[in-house]
Amino acid sequence: MNVDPIFRSLHKAQRFPLRVCQLVVRKRVPRPKPASQSEWTGAVRTGWNRVSYRYRPSGKHSDSFGHREGDYRSWLEPILRAVPPGTEVLDLGCGTGVPTSRILARRFRVTGVDLSDVQIRRARRFVPCARFVRADMTRVTFAPERFAAIVTLYSLIHVPREEQLSLFRRMATWLAPGGWFLGIVGQERYEGSEPGWLGSDAPMFWSHYNAATYRRWLRELKFTIAHEEFIPEGDGGHHLFLARKARSNSDRRTD
Ligand SMILES: C[S@@+](CC[C@H](N)C(=O)[O-])C[C@H]1O[C@@H](n2cnc3c(N)ncnc32)[C@H](O)[C@@H]1O
Repeated sequence: MNVDPIFRSLHKAQRFPLRVCQLVVRKRVPRPKPASQSEWTGAVRTGWNRVSYRYRPSGKHSDSFGHREGDYRSWLEPILRAVPPGTEVLDLGCGTGVPTSRILARRFRVTGVDLSDVQIRRARRFVPCARFVRADMTRVTFAPERFAAIVTLYSLIHVPREEQLSLFRRMATWLAPGGWFLGIVGQERYEGSEPGWLGSDAPMFWSHYNAATYRRWLRELKFTIAHEEFIPEGDGGHHLFLARKARSNSDRRTD
């Protein structure tokens, strides 16, 4: 079914049936894309500051889309098994640190990065043993080969897609040889916004390519894809990639 993305996002955010969303939003309101990357980033930062508590209420075991801690645990399981304890792991777009950074911090030295002041404030409270940095992931820098794993779940989908390939290249440099990448990224190519997301007074913005594009980038960057999976959500969904960076230049991928 060809459904206007604004109906689809209302359906995803509020869990109303699609038909109801199509009645509620009679006409798509044209919303110009922010003029520059800094405007986009500023709007996403404001949006996440406003929706932090709506998206992940304190003390709840799931977010507003029904993703449960157990889902996160199963996605992280291969990293928990494969990566040596005590090594450094990066959680990019860590949100409140719950559940990802909190699960990882029981085993690894975790650095979490997030754009939103409110998300980072909550993360520092929820996961005091990890280190959290409030920064734009497209601007932050780390030493080459510092991390044994990089995890980025549902956060790249808010980064302007023109910025994403260079971010993948930089992530590849931050990973040690043989390091692991776990990401939940876009399934379909999409760019758009929604006013008053999750009942807040701020718009939210999404931007992504399709899963085939991310698969191609990972392969071009000499990652071996160990696992990939469609993660359904409402009548759409996202794509999970678990991939391993080559151990040396001669280490050829086998997938
Ligand atoms: C859907 S939440 C996911 C949070 C967490 N990874 C999880 O799965 O619960 C997306 C997060 O990405 C962050 N984010 C969006 N754009 C970002 C950017 N350019 N740099 C750093 N964080 C960003 C938002 O502030 C938000 O906390």
